[in-house]
Amino acid sequence: MKKNLVIALPKGRIQEESMKIFEKIGFGCRDMFSGSRKLIFPLQEQPVTFMIVRAQDVPTYVHHGAADVGICGKDTIEESTCDLYEPLDLGFGGCDVVVAEPKGYSTENPGYNGTIVGTKMVNVAERFFASKGVDVEIIKLYGSIELAPLVGLAHRVVDIVETGETLRQNGLEVKEVIFRSTCRVITNRNSMKNRHAQIEKLLADMAGQL
Ligand code: PRP
Repeated sequence: MKKNLVIALPKGRIQEESMKIFEKIGFGCRDMFSGSRKLIFPLQEQPVTFMIVRAQDVPTYVHHGAADVGICGKDTIEESTCDLYEPLDLGFGGCDVVVAEPKGYSTENPGYNGTIVGTKMVNVAERFFASKGVDVEIIKLYGSIELAPLVGLAHRVVDIVETGETLRQNGLEVKEVIFRSTCRVITNRNSMKNRHAQIEKLLADMAGQL
């Protein structure tokens, strides 16, 4: 069995917020913020290794056991098709996953049938519209989602709203909230058995800092 507990973090804000918690429980890693381009950080004093991955890849690394533990948004978990445990809600990184549309669009087009939807969250969107029993066309995008209805690529979007500023500045509004997302700790199913005590202690220590 690999010696260190491997924890996958996405680069950026989740990484920074998570490391504040890890520092408080004795897993600080100064190297990580020294401008280094390294992607893997074994701690000197603790049997823990952090690795930095793309946010959407955190579930994949954890699902396949390359990481024992990961931190990512509920939105990322819902979009992934990975089989994971999700034992702890960290509370930060709150955002809504919504259906949004140009202001007033629903006055003329109240229903969803026939809607063209732009989104980077294809799985979430497909499940949501299927649960409503409506027939929509989903167009996969990788960013600047709010642009799609402005240029006729889509009628509506499924996207993340944090402050609402991107929607406001592009003349869009929320039609419906699909779910609220916050950052979660996810764990590999085998690690949860093989490293039970170590992971349970980690989760308890982290929960104690929330
Ligand atoms: C996300 C999301 C929205 C925006 C929402 O995009 O897709 O566009 O943030 O944030 P707000 O409500 O605070 O304005 P991101 O910044 O990840 O960039 P992207 O367009 O490359 O996906």
